[in-house]
Amino acid sequence: EFHLHPKKLALSSDGPMGKFDRQQLQRGFQVYKEVCSACHSMRLVAFRNLTELGYTEDEVKAIAANWPTQTPSIDPATGEPTTRPSIASDYIPSPHANETAARAANNNALPPDLSLITKARHGGAAYVYSLLTGYQEPPAELAKKFPDAMPGPGLNYNPYFANLNIAMANPLGSDGIVTYSDGTNATREQMAKDVAAFLVWTAEPTLEKRHQTGWAVLIFLIIATGLGYMAYRNVWAGVK
Ligand code: HEM
Repeated sequence: EFHLHPKKLALSSDGPMGKFDRQQLQRGFQVYKEVCSACHSMRLVAFRNLTELGYTEDEVKAIAANWPTQTPSIDPATGEPTTRPSIASDYIPSPHANETAARAANNNALPPDLSLITKARHGGAAYVYSLLTGYQEPPAELAKKFPDAMPGPGLNYNPYFANLNIAMANPLGSDGIVTYSDGTNATREQMAKDVAAFLVWTAEPTLEKRHQTGWAVLIFLIIATGLGYMAYRNVWAGVK
């Protein structure tokens, strides 16, 4: 009764004709980079994949070189683990070295990797969008009916989260926490939509190809059915 289904979210990638809005994906990437990447890894996306969002190779190189966390690597001179600035072929480095470090930085909660989150969670992009815009004060009846479900220390009430209490504090707490390079007004609503759209792309960068292939297959099957029917009429034409 307190847990809510995701709100409706319309994205240009929806439906069998859906295509990504690259301008929106770039804005979503900007939100990931400037906000979410402080806590959440993105282990399945390499910097060079960002050219698919419309960034030039030089832009991608600069994004990689300036990424706040560096790529783990082995020092060829000493054989010891070290870090170095990222290059375009590196995967986006995680903000934390391992799960223990990630939990230590987050009050023992684990920020999940976001690469596949829109596939992993029921509701997909609409869930992510709803979660990000869903932070609110716990309703008065909750304290009366289920006092145990009231947020404890370090937890935040969010009716879109399965158990109503999420360890992540509202990451998009106020409007304008990013300044979009395309001039779009960065309201909380807008940032939540854009990052949800971006997370659809990270989870399925080949979505457009799948949609196109689906249509080609359907058209082929319709033509093949027509030919098959004509062949059938032809083969049996002389038989009474
Ligand atoms: C959990 C998205 C920023 C810390 C999550 C979940 C999502 C998410 C989808 C999973 C919820 C679930 O399990 O169903 C985002 C996005 C961000 C962002 C899109 C940027 C706009 C941050 C930041 C921090 C953070 C900046 C740290 C300061 C966490 C933690 C969890 C979590 C600790 C685990 C919560 C729990 O299990 O209770 N986030 N996040 N997130 N996030 Fe974020």
